[in-house]
Amino acid sequence: MSRTADVLVVGGGIIGLVTAWRAAQRGLATVVVDPGPGGGAAQVAAGMLAAVTELHHGEETLLALNLASAQRYPAFVAELTGVTGLDLGYRRCGTLAVALDADDRAHLRDLHTLQTGAGLSSRWLNGRECRRLEPMLAPGVRGGLRVDDDHQIDPRRLAAALVAACRSAGVDFHLHRAESLLVARERAVGVALEDGTRLAAGQVVLAAGSLSGRLAGVPDDVLPPVRPVKGQVLRLTVPPRYAPFLNRTVRAVVRGSQVYLVPRENGELVVGATSEELGWDTTVTAGGVYELLRDAHELVPGITELPLTETRAGLRPGSPDNAPLLGPTALDGLLLATGHYRNGVLLTPVTGDVLAHALVNGELPGTARPFSPLRFRTPVHALPQEQSV
Ligand code: GLY
Repeated sequence: MSRTADVLVVGGGIIGLVTAWRAAQRGLATVVVDPGPGGGAAQVAAGMLAAVTELHHGEETLLALNLASAQRYPAFVAELTGVTGLDLGYRRCGTLAVALDADDRAHLRDLHTLQTGAGLSSRWLNGRECRRLEPMLAPGVRGGLRVDDDHQIDPRRLAAALVAACRSAGVDFHLHRAESLLVARERAVGVALEDGTRLAAGQVVLAAGSLSGRLAGVPDDVLPPVRPVKGQVLRLTVPPRYAPFLNRTVRAVVRGSQVYLVPRENGELVVGATSEELGWDTTVTAGGVYELLRDAHELVPGITELPLTETRAGLRPGSPDNAPLLGPTALDGLLLATGHYRNGVLLTPVTGDVLAHALVNGELPGTARPFSPLRFRTPVHALPQEQSV
């Protein structure tokens, strides 16, 4: 088996692609292994860049990484568009998070306190002010948060642009599924593909989204604790006579479930998303579609007039603390870029930079150290007696 690359990336979703692109830009000979580069969760995701409106208690460390990535977005988009000539649908439109009843309003008040406590820009509006911004909102909307820094991008365009950027940077693609990691003398040395090909590389990056925990040959204590979290998403079309239907992303928590409406400049309106722990199931269900339409209709009754053009389900790569696993593992030569859960699109620019740094320097940059995969290693003293000797 001769060495084919400096870096081999398993997974050609947006995280694997941005890693490969940035690695190739640093002069590393890079290959991506994936039967369909540019596919995966990015084909389903709405593309909200929602560092502020998706803030949760206990996720302040993740917030710092989310904000670092959001700040990179304008330059990242300009660079990617410059290289590929492709429009990524990046829209600096802001977001309005609204409440329909007293419980929702209490939830939003709590979120507002959390946001302002973290120094984030978020302004409380009453119901009338919300409807002045978004006239299609239901008359029952009781208030909301105006967040002007949460934007959107079209993840399908982003994925296509990253494939093109990788190709122009000299990244080589192997259009097969990776079957197992190859390990020799306690070091990752390459990957065996489903067709029997064995590819050798100086370093391997496992960036296979929700599938990252399933690559054969990865030692148990290094295997990422990533699980699939299903999200069903709808796509509607706003006919020109209804435009502009919404000016910005509108979202709410209705009966405990998140619903968001993301309006694109090209007339697409994305409505998402369910959150279901159902293993590898990607069936679009009547119940999922009903729930999304029911909740979206409560927010914006006019959506029932719009053509429903697509229904689809994808799998978020969930991690135990909802944060990604980035950089070197306990197995020499193996790095991770996975577990991005609800923030894969948002975290794409910073992930590329962090992984390129780790591939070149052998360690994470300071901003990414809290996201080392080593945080999930079982301490030896916590193992049962017979395993610790
Ligand atoms: N960040 C949106 C979602 O995961 O549904």
